[in-house]
Amino acid sequence: MSRVPEASVFLVVDEAKRKAREKGIRLIDLSIGSSDLLPPAEPLRTLREALSDPSTYGYCLKSCTLPFLEEACRWYQGRYGVGLDPKREALALIGSQEGLAHLLLALTEPQDLLLLPEVAYPSYFGAAQVASLKTHLIPLREDGLADLSRVPEYVWKEAKILLLNYPNNPTGALADWAYFEEALSLARKHGLWLIHDNPYVDQVYEGEAPSPLALPGAKERVVELFSLSKSYNLAGFRLGFALGNEEAIARLERVKGVIDFNQYAGILRMGIAALRTPREVTRGFAQVYQKRALGMAEALKGALDLLPPKATMYLWGKLPQGVDDLEFTLSVVERGVAVAPGRGFGPGGRGHVRIALVQPMEMLQEAARILREALD
Ligand SMILES: Cc1ncc(COP(=O)(O)O)c(C=O)c1O
Repeated sequence: MSRVPEASVFLVVDEAKRKAREKGIRLIDLSIGSSDLLPPAEPLRTLREALSDPSTYGYCLKSCTLPFLEEACRWYQGRYGVGLDPKREALALIGSQEGLAHLLLALTEPQDLLLLPEVAYPSYFGAAQVASLKTHLIPLREDGLADLSRVPEYVWKEAKILLLNYPNNPTGALADWAYFEEALSLARKHGLWLIHDNPYVDQVYEGEAPSPLALPGAKERVVELFSLSKSYNLAGFRLGFALGNEEAIARLERVKGVIDFNQYAGILRMGIAALRTPREVTRGFAQVYQKRALGMAEALKGALDLLPPKATMYLWGKLPQGVDDLEFTLSVVERGVAVAPGRGFGPGGRGHVRIALVQPMEMLQEAARILREALD
């Protein structure tokens, strides 16, 4: 417990937002990755119907999750052409954040070494501490991807898990198939698990996001985590799934068996309906983010050094030399815009900010104006 972080930097920003609102400041909140877009109608209708069905009210053990897992495997087969056994190679999660934290516990012993990028989803750092893991942080390349060539040989030899997430929060970086081939080949060479957290699989602006689990031989090493939070704007409903290596899935099931009884059966039915959403709908959501990302990048040109937007609902920007990301974040809250300070995403995030594209275009343009003014 002594190692688990007490209060994150995001709570500091949250308190600043509360105070600003108390003073009557109208805030454009771009600090959290919670979408302003609505979920498709069908999953919500299915959930409403499930609420009137008393057979959904009890504990939901593995057999009750199977229809959802069958649908998840069908979805994966349709997208990537790889068949998976829903009983042995899939598991329902209460969101991918829950899944990842328990997966780290399931695959390691205390003091094992976890490799992860130096800029990452904040929960990864806390989850590593909950599982008493040592970490090695991988520096980023210019394109925002973790630079695997900069991990020393002795670190590869000691490591147990390589944890990646592309499309990435917070950088929006997107890996290609060749990147995952290299990651998998390193994992194979050094006997590591490759965990790929993939909640933004549907938020790619052009084409499809590669999935390492679809590579030949990947089932020996890879576990991939998916979520309904971002693809279908259902973040509050807490539903995701793990796919991949049979032994890793069995271990995760063992850990979770001690801790939870799965999500409510009605929400699993909602998940089945969500996974059947026509691809045009999720592509439509991605196009909304793309338009916002390109518009915002244009509006902030020359003020913030942004990674070119390729995916996700985020922009990641480097502040001018010498500007402290937390001080900057707190000062722009006073001016009416909330963004996320880079240091909340790990030591490599200092001097950066993350802008969540979760407001309509006009609000984003207004936010860009305020950010520019503050930077000037
Ligand atoms: C990289 C990453 N993983 C996991 C999550 C959480 O997903 P879920 O809602 O499925 O727990 C997020 C949410 O922002 C995320 O950015």
